Amino acid sequence: MTTLLINGKEHPIDAEDDMPLLWAIRDLAGYTGTKYGCGIGLCGACSVLLDGKQTFSCVTPVSAAKGKAITTIEGLATEKGLHPLQQAWVEQDVPQCGYCQSGQIIAAAALLKQNPHPSDEEIRAKMGNLCRCGTYQQIFAAVKRAAEIQGAQS
Ligand code: FES
Ligand code: FES
Repeated sequence: MTTLLINGKEHPIDAEDDMPLLWAIRDLAGYTGTKYGCGIGLCGACSVLLDGKQTFSCVTPVSAAKGKAITTIEGLATEKGLHPLQQAWVEQDVPQCGYCQSGQIIAAAALLKQNPHPSDEEIRAKMGNLCRCGTYQQIFAAVKRAAEIQGAQS
């Protein structure tokens, strides 16, 4: 038995240390917004924030998340409303099938946390998650828009 801090709440989890964090988050804690794609650390669909850093939860053991703050897509919005990235995603009408999108937004959240005003090159370099629907242009536009919204709110 261990405890994981997910989206600001402590979750007692009955998992072996080497269980992929993705399964603990989805199947044991019930946050199903985080998706399984490749399972080998390539696509980014399973991205969560671990102490603010983008982390592929499919290749991260539960033991590596102990004592750290885990944020999933469900943890981005607050009582005040949607996260600037979620607002921008809606404005730019980004998703097609939607499967990769929670991972994309988490990748963008890590980027904006590290760098609230990323250049075009920085956005292109950091947004490396795969999207089989090819929504890359919309994702790029939405990250730029989210930076504007976030800047206006701060
Ligand atoms: S499912 Fe984790 S990187 Fe693809
Ligand atoms: S929106 Fe379909 S995989 Fe990205």
